[in-house]
Amino acid sequence: MAVLEVRGLRKRYGRVVAVDGVSFNAGKGVHGLVGPNGAGKTTTLKSIVGLVVPDAGKVLFNGEDLLSPRGWRLRGEIGYVAEVPVLPNDCVAVELLEELALIEGLDKLSARREARRVLEEVGLDRLADRRVKGLSKGERKRLYFAQALLRPRSLYVLDEPFSGLDPEAVAWARSLVSQLGRGATVLLSSHLLREVEELAESVTIIYGGRVLYSGALEELARMAGRGIVAELSVDRLEEAARLLREEGYVAETSGSRLVVRLGSREDAARVVSLLSSRGFMVYESRLRGRSLEEAYLELIARAARGEKVGA
Ligand SMILES: Nc1ncnc2c1ncn2[C@@H]1O[C@H](COP(=O)(O)OP(=O)(O)OP(=O)(O)O)[C@@H](O)[C@H]1O
Ligand SMILES: [Mg+2]
Repeated sequence: MAVLEVRGLRKRYGRVVAVDGVSFNAGKGVHGLVGPNGAGKTTTLKSIVGLVVPDAGKVLFNGEDLLSPRGWRLRGEIGYVAEVPVLPNDCVAVELLEELALIEGLDKLSARREARRVLEEVGLDRLADRRVKGLSKGERKRLYFAQALLRPRSLYVLDEPFSGLDPEAVAWARSLVSQLGRGATVLLSSHLLREVEELAESVTIIYGGRVLYSGALEELARMAGRGIVAELSVDRLEEAARLLREEGYVAETSGSRLVVRLGSREDAARVVSLLSSRGFMVYESRLRGRSLEEAYLELIARAARGEKVGA
């Protein structure tokens, strides 16, 4: 049985439908919740942790309805890291964590010990005595992480946990997420599939408040059709991309390269000769498999065009 079952979640804010019937399951391990800005990720996650009351739907945690009175008691089992950490400004970092540990039910001595331990774990031990208002954006995010780590949980809900962190902190947070996923269910949201790809075994992709795909990453690769991509180094990049698009190719620029989606390897030669015949200089061409991120972006683009995609 899945640890977490989200069923037919709906939430509207006035006329804006933020979440429009989202359902997915997550078992033990890391499960990605991926979608572009405004897709409904935060609203879904807040509904799970009880910060938003959905208009309809259910969230089952080990078979227990989280919105029922009994379910409320289970909320302590959830470690939550908000997208935008809201923390009391006037508190001293270590005192805030001690206070939260007391609320979690620890005695005074253990609360003090645990507060120090988690501060060290998130790399904030040097800043233990600083007030929250003096902390930088990344430091606040780490502090928010620290409260989620005060005790082991069976479910972690992490809303864009890597955003706002420097590369070293991202590396730390990624290994933490992977470690948490070994013993618990971790819901990890991001607008980049590549950010969750290495960490998650399964993923739910949402767009416009609806689920486009939910399941194993390998299955997504199969469904989206990975295909082949040619990366070309060519002069007058934008013009070349336009020409290929006029000729029916899916072509876009990426940095100093032209990326063209191909049906087969033979297409590569056709693309190069087409460009040459129109006077473009092709300096280099390279074939590679399409990344899962590119497959995901195409899924979103198809949904944006109103095509029926997935569930
Ligand atoms: N409190 C609110 N009042 C009005 N509209 C809201 C509110 N919260 C979210 N929305 C709207 O609901 C939709 C979904 O928002 P949500 O924050 O869930 O998206 P998201 O996927 O987390 O996006 P992002 O990647 O930008 O964080 C958006 O159109 C947003 O503008
Ligand atoms: Mg969000």
